[in-house]
Amino acid sequence: MLGKHKDLLGIKALSAEEIMYILKNAQTMKYILMQNNKKTPHLQGKSIITLFYENSTRTRLSFELAAKYMGGCAANVSASSSSVRKGETLIDTARTIDAMGTDIIILRHSMSGAPHLIAKNVKASVINAGDGMNEHPTQALLDALTILEHKGGFEGLKVAIVGDVMHSRVVRSNIYLLTKLGARVALGGPATLLPKGIENLGVEVYDNIDAAITDADVVMGLRMQLERQKSGLVPNMREYSRFFGVDDKRLALAKPDALLMHPGPVNRGIELTTSIIDGKTSVIDEQVTNGVAVRMAVLYIFARKGDGNENIG
Ligand code: CP
Repeated sequence: MLGKHKDLLGIKALSAEEIMYILKNAQTMKYILMQNNKKTPHLQGKSIITLFYENSTRTRLSFELAAKYMGGCAANVSASSSSVRKGETLIDTARTIDAMGTDIIILRHSMSGAPHLIAKNVKASVINAGDGMNEHPTQALLDALTILEHKGGFEGLKVAIVGDVMHSRVVRSNIYLLTKLGARVALGGPATLLPKGIENLGVEVYDNIDAAITDADVVMGLRMQLERQKSGLVPNMREYSRFFGVDDKRLALAKPDALLMHPGPVNRGIELTTSIIDGKTSVIDEQVTNGVAVRMAVLYIFARKGDGNENIG
């Protein structure tokens, strides 16, 4: 099904059928993940390297756990303690990892397009674990698995994605995925954090979040990316959370059974209040669990491609 793709660089390049194929495999992996004994031989003899130039808790750990649960050999290259510090280029680092017989390289980098660049220079499959402000495909896939488990499908759902749209790679991957699967996406945030032309991706855009959230089936908060902010885009965090943070009152504008989601890490009290993060409609912890299942499926599909067998369903 994904035979034409050596790499998973973004959701933009995938068809609706390919996305559903990954989600179907992730459902099987979720079943394995829920057992007491999670060990499977799906990745026996395969090597997986995580190469992270930016911080991560969820993505890096879930890829590493996924590889280990499936019997793969997983190791991490940390930019801060590798030869990157001695001036080695990204391509040379990737070629070095490739020359060791690595099957999959998982890259997170602050530069949009970095995974695409190394994918052209290595034999290994490259998985994008977040590139600058471009895409974070496995985050959108785990979000989709969570929505699928609760809502049973995507057609006709209204998904409100609110907050710092400008700096979010999560939002781009989610827009591509949700619109391909027939959901309606409504973006909400301050005008200064809504990129010009984003409506051309087939989404509704509101410069207040109440309109975006009203009657939504899913409300997804985005992290205020303090580390990517240029000064002046928002007045201050207190003002931001007053006008653009989601609290109980704003969440009540959504449908009564609306899911509350967030990719994490959350700035508590800025984009979401603690009462809703820990409230009964929050599925934020389920998103984390589903991150392992989705990454198990992605690793399996992309590691086995060379063996001519990628179907576990
Ligand atoms: N959502 C996400 O990418 O989290 P991490 O930065 O912890 O990997």
